[in-house]
Amino acid sequence: MCGIMGTINKNNDAIQKVIEGLERLEYRGYDSCGIAYLDNLEIETIKTKGRVKELSQLVDSNIKTNIAIGHTRWATHGGATTINAHPHTVGSITIVHNGIIENYLTLKEKLINNGYTFKSETDTEVAGALLDFYYQKNKDIKDAITNFIKEVKGSYAIVLLCKDIKDKLFVIKKDSPLVIGTNQEGVLIASDIPTISCECEDYYLLNDLEWAIVGLDKISFFNNNGEEIIKERQVFKDAALTYSKEKYDHFMLKEIMEQVTTLSKLINYYLEDDRYLNLIDISKFKRIDIVACGSAYNASLVGKYLFEEEAGIETEVYLASEYRYKKNFLDKDSLVIFVSQSGETADTLACLKKIKETDAKSLGIINVEKSSISLLVDEVIYTKSGSEIAVATTKAYTSQLAVFSLLTLSSLVKNRKLDKTDAVITELKNIGNDVQTLLKDTSKYQEVAKKIVASKKIFFLGRSIDYAIMKEGDLKLKEITYISSECYAAGELKHGPISLIDKDTLVIAGNTNKLLYEKTESNLCEVTARGANTLLITNKNTDSDNILIPEKSIYVSPILEVIPLQLIAYYTGVLLERDIDKPRNLAKSVTVE
Ligand code: F6R
Repeated sequence: MCGIMGTINKNNDAIQKVIEGLERLEYRGYDSCGIAYLDNLEIETIKTKGRVKELSQLVDSNIKTNIAIGHTRWATHGGATTINAHPHTVGSITIVHNGIIENYLTLKEKLINNGYTFKSETDTEVAGALLDFYYQKNKDIKDAITNFIKEVKGSYAIVLLCKDIKDKLFVIKKDSPLVIGTNQEGVLIASDIPTISCECEDYYLLNDLEWAIVGLDKISFFNNNGEEIIKERQVFKDAALTYSKEKYDHFMLKEIMEQVTTLSKLINYYLEDDRYLNLIDISKFKRIDIVACGSAYNASLVGKYLFEEEAGIETEVYLASEYRYKKNFLDKDSLVIFVSQSGETADTLACLKKIKETDAKSLGIINVEKSSISLLVDEVIYTKSGSEIAVATTKAYTSQLAVFSLLTLSSLVKNRKLDKTDAVITELKNIGNDVQTLLKDTSKYQEVAKKIVASKKIFFLGRSIDYAIMKEGDLKLKEITYISSECYAAGELKHGPISLIDKDTLVIAGNTNKLLYEKTESNLCEVTARGANTLLITNKNTDSDNILIPEKSIYVSPILEVIPLQLIAYYTGVLLERDIDKPRNLAKSVTVE
């Protein structure tokens, strides 16, 4: 998704700082980019349909300036073209924007009637024009911003330059994240914390409908009525992010390999001193809804299975984009769990805001600390998997599974349905070794990748929890290989999709549940009878072409089952020479609806 970077500093290296920030934002996915800076008292703008590297080649590196803003754009309104790339200048205003201006067509009409013309197809240029429209009335930028906030519907994180006020940046925020960081050299503004945490000591987070005037020596904050407010300065405590692939070819592979430590660390943190027993007791609630998107939704399906089958608590899982417009049946006995790696996903965040108006309790299972969702939920469990740079999630997803295991075990132990010393808990503690075993020899996953590339159709099948895991395998393959694959509950195939099965089909099936072994095997017979090739991921002794995972309890097994699928998708992407870490059209954090 779009990324914002801006700076005002003493060192006159603002262009370099913005380019470096845009490079750090690249992981979010984008299709064009641009920069605007002050040069000889004029605002210069340079944009390209290409990558940040190309942008940096277009900018004269000899220019010294202390103020600049930049943007990586993920197209929403209008194609991925240089004209549509940000920054946009209208009159006195030069603007970069993340989010969506929902009433931009109405605003555009009004502005056209007032003599404005537009070069791009974007809602952002309309936002810039509206700010200019109000600014030109009395040349008061404060009035312009407060009028803008009153009139605009939608989401926005905005940084702007005003050509008449050359030593300030202006920042406005609603429903799209924005952070202002400071250091000895000056101020850095970005659309996410990791982009500036490596450079800044302190930071301020804006709440919705707040805005700021950022100068080198002073940052002033205001509410939507233009009244000055005090904001708390926060300190970066954690080590700055590293953006190195180390010895790996891609961040995705590095992050898959890191699962040995991310999972062990997370689980041991909660198991040490019985911290997991302090987690919220899910058995106290009469209704549990889990809300998420994409892989986080797939992880939630596993959570539902654990809550229902192991803890006996009925649970529903919803796609956030559906839940936000659905009637809810929540009361004080309801728990709504929001699962998100980034903690910024627009649909998930909107659902949280909606349920905040009910009596339900909210719990976040979130990776990025201090992200919007983590700050708004009643309680948060951090998945502690560190920064995830590859667009396709791997280590954050398995950490979400581990949190669902911990929540279930916590409830069982607290309600005396399981003993603290039970073997399943020891098994969970040792997960790192099992993950390590699966990661040791990658050659078998590379062989499967060759089979996938040689097949015309790919199907993923599974029953119950295997189905949930296969959905994640299917999503991973689609995301990074662009292969069109399908995933079905194994028993559902014969109700229609089996007509697609033929000799050119490879069926990848998960079969790890003893109670359902034979059922899934029968479904596989149905596909082999129609000429398909099959590959099993199973914990049952199997012939050598299949992938064997260790036989473990339901708290560990799903985590182990997904790792081969992550690696199969990865090596298929490599074979097809895809842009593994930044697949086409995808964004790391989906901050628009
Ligand atoms: C898949 C993927 C996406 C995200 C989804 C939700 O690899 O990364 O499907 O899982 O966009 O994102 P978060 O978890 O940040 O809410």
